[in-house]
Amino acid sequence: MNILLLGGGGREHALAWKLRQSPLVKSLVVAPGNPGIAALGECVPLDITNAAAVVTLAKERSAHLVVVGPEAPLVAGVADALRAAGFDVFGPDAAGARIEGSKAFAKEIMQAANVPTARFELFSDIEAAAARALAWGPVVVKADGLAAGKGVVVATSGQEAAEACRALGALPSGQTILLEEVLTGPELSVMALCDGERFALLAPSQDHKRVFDGDRGPNTGGMGAYAPANFLNPEQLDEVGRTVIAPTLAELRRRGISFRGTLYAGLMLTPAGHRVLEFNARLGDPETQVLMMQLDTDLVPVLQACARGALTNTTLPQRAGFSVGIVLAAEGYPEAPRTGDAIELPTSQPAGTQLFHAGTKLSGDQLVSAGGRVITACASGATLLEARARATALAETITWQGRHFRKDIAAGAPP
Ligand code: AMP
Ligand code: GLY
Repeated sequence: MNILLLGGGGREHALAWKLRQSPLVKSLVVAPGNPGIAALGECVPLDITNAAAVVTLAKERSAHLVVVGPEAPLVAGVADALRAAGFDVFGPDAAGARIEGSKAFAKEIMQAANVPTARFELFSDIEAAAARALAWGPVVVKADGLAAGKGVVVATSGQEAAEACRALGALPSGQTILLEEVLTGPELSVMALCDGERFALLAPSQDHKRVFDGDRGPNTGGMGAYAPANFLNPEQLDEVGRTVIAPTLAELRRRGISFRGTLYAGLMLTPAGHRVLEFNARLGDPETQVLMMQLDTDLVPVLQACARGALTNTTLPQRAGFSVGIVLAAEGYPEAPRTGDAIELPTSQPAGTQLFHAGTKLSGDQLVSAGGRVITACASGATLLEARARATALAETITWQGRHFRKDIAAGAPP
């Protein structure tokens, strides 16, 4: 079959790598792709939030399945347009993607579906939010809309929270402000591949969002991840499926939304049990990079079944052992990443390791940095320690001026 994959980051490189291993795939076209993906399929430069342009490409390439990587095309209604044109699509319609695009909508769904989440209040008036925040004291302040990771402030005092309300209220995504109770505990990502009704869970994974070792510095898109993150035993993971994923899909269905794509639950494991911090409507990045290394089954039939609303096999076999991914970032990331530096790659790569490109491009024959998160060094191993040592050794062999990466990815993982 012919597959069209949308996106050009590390997540899409990992997906392309996994999809390419399927004997079912005849052609793989990726828009826009990146230089790493170009070794696996044809890359087509395209504005993937332009629904008409994506539909035209899908028709030109006779796509049997379109897989949407990032949230922007989902929120822009690209999956709706593709479905209307008769294509099988892995990725929810815009109405479903609102669960990521609007935190207020996500909370409304969770409340209606009785999904465990933090207590919250919603405000459309910034000053009313600030006044309430001042009284609340330590509180989490969130902008309703997509804010590229900059829409959440965990305030330690009422004063700080009130200031955060005004700062977030000034963002385009801050028309509505949420105040939320501060929860504590380890954070975990649980992703479900959904067909609108049924779902299959990927292994739990953990991301490292702060830029520096020891969880210091500003938040980023993610500096590294590992899987499985064994904070939950198999019964507890099933319970997350039962208490979070299933009721959410059911509530969306009640509202006429058949969610066919990834429902990503960002969880906090509090002393009182798991709570949903956020939903995403797509696979996580960098989590997907390690999840694809762990997945021990052909991904193509699974995504196709989800796209068609016909998922029958709801268990995804996993490899034994662990995978660790370390993001190599550009100097100045996340505030002002420096780009255009020549990247040196190792001439050979040890078995069980993978490099996934994100912000790279070719300048003539030379690979150069072209974004904040540039490349991920991933490795598998029988133990987390082994996977981590291999990924770190691989990361050391990739150099450019000012590149940096965390040395403590998966260091705090449960055994
Ligand atoms: P979100 O985009 O909602 O996942 O929030 C981004 C980050 O803010 C999360 O990964 C948490 O580290 C933190 N956070 C969000 N909500 C809460 C909460 N209710 N209590 C404590 N930390 C939170
Ligand atoms: N790594 C976090 C995310 O993809 O949202």
